[in-house]
Amino acid sequence: MTTPIPDTVLQALSALREQLGPVAVLIGADVPERNCNDWSTQPPLRPLAVVRPTDAAGVSAALRACRSVGVPVVPQGGLTGLCGGARPQPGWVALSLERMVGIEEIDPASATITVLAGTPLEVVQRAADEAGFFFALDLGARGSCSIGGNLSTNAGGNRVIRYGMTREMVLGLEAVLPDGTIVTSLNKMLKNNAGYDLKHLFIGSEGTLGVVTRIVLRLFPKPACTMAALCAVPDYASVVALLGAARNGLGPLLSAFEVMWPDYWEVVTRRVGVRSPLPGGERDGQRLYVLIEAQGTDPALDNPRFQAWLEKLMDAGQLADAAVAQSVADTQSFWALRDACAEFFPTLGPHLSYDVGLPVADMGRYAQRCKQALADRVAGCESVYYGHIGDGNLHLVAWVPGLSVEQQPKDAMDEIIYGLVREFAGTVSAEHGIGTVKKRWLGHARSAEEIALMNILKLALDPLRLLNPGKVL
Ligand code: FAD
Ligand code: LAC
Ligand code: ZN
Repeated sequence: MTTPIPDTVLQALSALREQLGPVAVLIGADVPERNCNDWSTQPPLRPLAVVRPTDAAGVSAALRACRSVGVPVVPQGGLTGLCGGARPQPGWVALSLERMVGIEEIDPASATITVLAGTPLEVVQRAADEAGFFFALDLGARGSCSIGGNLSTNAGGNRVIRYGMTREMVLGLEAVLPDGTIVTSLNKMLKNNAGYDLKHLFIGSEGTLGVVTRIVLRLFPKPACTMAALCAVPDYASVVALLGAARNGLGPLLSAFEVMWPDYWEVVTRRVGVRSPLPGGERDGQRLYVLIEAQGTDPALDNPRFQAWLEKLMDAGQLADAAVAQSVADTQSFWALRDACAEFFPTLGPHLSYDVGLPVADMGRYAQRCKQALADRVAGCESVYYGHIGDGNLHLVAWVPGLSVEQQPKDAMDEIIYGLVREFAGTVSAEHGIGTVKKRWLGHARSAEEIALMNILKLALDPLRLLNPGKVL
């Protein structure tokens, strides 16, 4: 259903269409379905219009036009966010970066790549690779998410343990403020302490302080070889021991340490149907699985070193079982087990997903208590656990089979999951952000003073509260 559009708003949008061209402004019934939602499993909502500029000037014009008629604007990238950050509300305009796609420059001396914010992550990765470099950010949504969305959510993903979160990969950016001012700060230098480092206002602020239009990213040397192992261990204490051994034994080569609890393994191997490379793995309901990846600079040295490190652990009885990738196809098949969570919607049906952060040592106990409490206190609730454990980031999905997303007892689940987060001094979001779905719980992870300062920043940059209002704060 489309909401009637007030005349003044229609006039402003029509004038904007005159300025930016007919395909840049889609109004009312012309709004495509894809712009009505993100991946947060809430019902879709139609914005009044979608504006799709091709440059910062167009973004500025759109923000000014919407501001002139008091219409809120939601920035949209690839719409893979899991917290409702890019989900519009009726009466809003969606400002989509989908036509701002492309690589502007690769500077080999600075080891940087300058990109337009709507460029899909995978396109950035490929461009870096073709230029002989490595762009280290990687996540399951790589084909659809945009680099601007990655920056706005400060995305984490699979290689944080080695390269850090998106924040660590950004050197400069261009952003348009809610009043339409374009701030161009395309810094390429690793070091620049000339006053406040303003880019951090826009990184991780989920499109509430400005719209990011261009980004300068750090590139890294291309790894000469990638080693991967899938290990089974009997309990969580062994996971922690293995993480210590990986940090010590692989040092800076360690590039991923992903853990899958038995319940996750069971769903992925039996229900999603991904093949287990460890024979008998599907039948063992107790073991945890760890995907370890290391990136080296010399295959002749690093491959045998990785193999020897793993054999030493096997001989010492630290692993119940292990498989080492012998080919790129093997490595991909290990990652397929971890990426299979993208298939949870068709497989498990409606569910809620969480990305809590906890001290590494406590995650085993947290998972155990959370699973038990959900089963005891929410009738029929099932849950599975996995995540970037080397980064202190646990994912869990929880659901009551047979219920639609709206029928899931979200409040009861949230109370258990975030109540335990507070007890363990963790965070309600390690990487996905707050959006709207975790807003109620921000105070479980941030102090009143921290939230007050966030409000001061919001008010200073967006006094009319027209840029993505009601998100995060
Ligand atoms: P969107 O969903 O379009 O937007 C996200 C937020 O950023 C919104 O608040 C939006 O308003 C804002 N925004 C978008 N573009 C801009 C811009 N140019 N300027 C200002 N604000 C903007 N996340 C992780 O951190 N780690 C993972 O491992 C991970 N794995 C995932 C796997 C799958 C299968 C899926 C579906 C999601 C996964 N995610 C993960 C979540 C999601 O992919 C990330 O949050 C991603 O960074 C969102 O990018 P996007 O372009 O889709 O952003
Ligand atoms: C992942 C997403 C859910 O790590 O963050 O698979
Ligand atoms: Zn994740």
